[in-house]
Amino acid sequence: MKVALGLGCDRGTPEATLAEAVDRALAELATPPREPVRVVGAGSITLKADEPGLLALARARGWSLRFYPPEVLAQVSVPNPSEIVRRHTGTPSVSEAAALLTALARGPEALRVEKLRWRGADGRSATVSVAVVDDAQQPCFDTAQRDDAQALLAARRDMRHFLPGCRVDESVIARLLVAVQAAPSVGLMQPWRLLRITDGALREELAREVDAERLRTAAQMGPREAEFLALKVAGVRESAELWALVLAPDDGTLFGRRTLPRDMAVCSAGAAVQNLWLAARAENLGLGWVSLFEPAVLAQALQLPAGAQALGLLCLGPVAAFYPRPMLSQTGWRQPRPPTAWWGENRWAFEADPPPVSADPGAPA
Ligand SMILES: Cc1cc2nc3c(=O)[nH]c(=O)nc-3n(C[C@H](O)[C@H](O)[C@H](O)COP(=O)(O)O)c2cc1C
Repeated sequence: MKVALGLGCDRGTPEATLAEAVDRALAELATPPREPVRVVGAGSITLKADEPGLLALARARGWSLRFYPPEVLAQVSVPNPSEIVRRHTGTPSVSEAAALLTALARGPEALRVEKLRWRGADGRSATVSVAVVDDAQQPCFDTAQRDDAQALLAARRDMRHFLPGCRVDESVIARLLVAVQAAPSVGLMQPWRLLRITDGALREELAREVDAERLRTAAQMGPREAEFLALKVAGVRESAELWALVLAPDDGTLFGRRTLPRDMAVCSAGAAVQNLWLAARAENLGLGWVSLFEPAVLAQALQLPAGAQALGLLCLGPVAAFYPRPMLSQTGWRQPRPPTAWWGENRWAFEADPPPVSADPGAPA
């Protein structure tokens, strides 16, 4: 059974008292024998966003915590509103309303423990409400599923090494297409098109263009030319599947793209590939995005209409092993920037990159 917790407490309530209150509330749940209780998260009021005991307990139990403002909590219909609570906090309910919001519940009937009040030996009080999650109505991920999602994100790699001669079952392909169909796109325009390359001669023609572009790129790499040529940059010939990613001719969608029409279409195509990347990794299949080609050459080879443009060759299929880190990082070509280099607040205050020492700014100094 998946549940969400709503928590309220006196200022300075210790973690231990909160833990006792939560454990008592969870013990009150009438769960069928041996059905584990999985907490999807815990909610409280913004007033408690810096409550040390609450933060410590959530950290210790691995719950994601969220804090709702009183005016949002006050909108939730609850079985036990309190005038005293409203006077102190601005909402007639903290724990019941927060539990319902955190469970994405449709109504107050989701509450299984309405309001358990517990006074600890320290004299501080905590209130706990428990709402059950109805996954059939609306999926609400528990902490184990959240961790699985994080593991998937961390394990996703851009792959260039594939096991040759393999096939991918059509049922797998069908799931991958579901993932692409679920991708976000500006104005719901879905500007991507995917061409499955099944013609061996066409695949070879595309592979030759990638080979040629690899050499043209290398020639501009200056002191890093040999190092670049030592890298494997595509698995176009070996991968089980090869799909061409094409940006469709502009359909005129205005929503969200009046000022940046092409950029927003390209971003949407990128978002589709990210879905595909993750879905493929969940199938334990590798995916490599290859962008080493002259678009005009692919336009001709793929007989694209005017206005369409190839954005990638997507190599997909079984691999012997996934790189544990980005291959470019593993090989020393370039190291990823730490979050401090891209995470800021309000205004641009990032350090400028040092001037490049070669055609590729990732070059070590
Ligand atoms: C739009 C795009 C185009 C890319 N083109 C290539 C490519 O032509 N060849 C290649 O080896 N990697 C290509 N990559 C993969 C990146 O190098 C890779 O994502 C990056 O090094 C981080 O590694 P990771 O994806 O394994 O985390 C491309 C990635 C993106 C998003």
